Amino acid sequence: MSKKLNIGLVGFGCVGSGLYDVLNRSNLIDAKIKRIVVQDPKKERSIDQSYFSFDINDILNDPEINVVVELINDSASAFEIVSQALKKGKDVVTANKKMLAEYQAELIPLAKENKVSLLYEGAVAGSIPIIRNLEEYYNNDSLTSVEGILNGTTNYILTQSNSGIGYEEALKSAQELGFAEADPTLDVDGFDSKYKLVLLLKHAFGITVAPKEILNVGIRGISEKEVAYAGEKGYRIKLLSRAEKIGDQVVSFVAPHCISDQHSAYNVHNEFNAVVVEALFSDKQLFYGKGAGSHPTGSAVLSDVSALKFDYQYEYRKAQSNGGLKYTTDAFIKVYIGSKYVNAIEEVAFYSVEETFQSAAYSFQVGWVKLEVLFDLNLNARKDLSLLVLPDSIQTEKGLSELIEKNLFIYENQN
Ligand code: HSE
Repeated sequence: MSKKLNIGLVGFGCVGSGLYDVLNRSNLIDAKIKRIVVQDPKKERSIDQSYFSFDINDILNDPEINVVVELINDSASAFEIVSQALKKGKDVVTANKKMLAEYQAELIPLAKENKVSLLYEGAVAGSIPIIRNLEEYYNNDSLTSVEGILNGTTNYILTQSNSGIGYEEALKSAQELGFAEADPTLDVDGFDSKYKLVLLLKHAFGITVAPKEILNVGIRGISEKEVAYAGEKGYRIKLLSRAEKIGDQVVSFVAPHCISDQHSAYNVHNEFNAVVVEALFSDKQLFYGKGAGSHPTGSAVLSDVSALKFDYQYEYRKAQSNGGLKYTTDAFIKVYIGSKYVNAIEEVAFYSVEETFQSAAYSFQVGWVKLEVLFDLNLNARKDLSLLVLPDSIQTEKGLSELIEKNLFIYENQN
């Protein structure tokens, strides 16, 4: 017999109220929200005031509440609440990607020790069921790459910019629609995409990587010059989160990419997300859906709540059987770097250069750069440099020298 779920909900913002709606409109599951804990007693709420409390202990110390759904912004407070709930033997569902990425090494063992579930489908790519698919469906297939658009806000801004809508206006609209984080820097500088990528790395490749070890470059450096460059080559610019297996290592980063119409994410617009999974036997598969918003994310949270009825838990099987895969930043990426200032481009230590353009108003260079060089440039803080990653763009040093040699050979034989 499936168990009855009594939910203590923490947070009643965009996703919390979305969960309330989807739960009420779904007749499928035997679950009810018993208590909602929020911070601000003065704020007007859209539902009966009797649900609300302002003391987290009203959830943590209520023995009838067996599920805590955590949907607040602050990752440190969320960590405290989730840790206490797990220790008290309550199952937890959360969509807090920042908390999960920062504290996965503490939280996953804590859930295991206390024999409870910690589920977070809503934390990655909103409504797309990617975590459970990585856990269950791809259990026996060796994954070679996972990449995608994991942030609705930036994809919305980039899509709007193609229709001539400016950055500030598009961001404001994404905030009004409830897509953006409370601190939108997390979206536009690629942090949110990176937190989600950290979770994909765990479930796809079984590796634990701290967020600070992964490069994230956001979209604030993209000017009309980059949009024009991409357009001339027939590309679209998308903020991609990537994880690629090369031998027994995994290379992973977040950056704006030029993608061609051959890429599965080429037609993914606005707040939609896409995840492309490539595996040895099943080959390439695309998951597509709304990556942000009240009801789409609420539906993913509801799906986790419903899975608790049969005591579903992640098993992290890839972490036990990944053949010793290791995360590495020792790789080369093919990039475009543009600037109003030639000197700024000259500062970038390219490994090899394939194209250079210089004019009084704007310059750019295309070539291969070591991932670590991009880390050191601290591109989110630079107003004088813009980065785009080009297609087919990750190589090891060995792979890159073979590629350069091969290209030289072709070039020499053509001339
Ligand atoms: N700010 C996030 C986004 C919300 O724009 O994708 C969903 O995680």
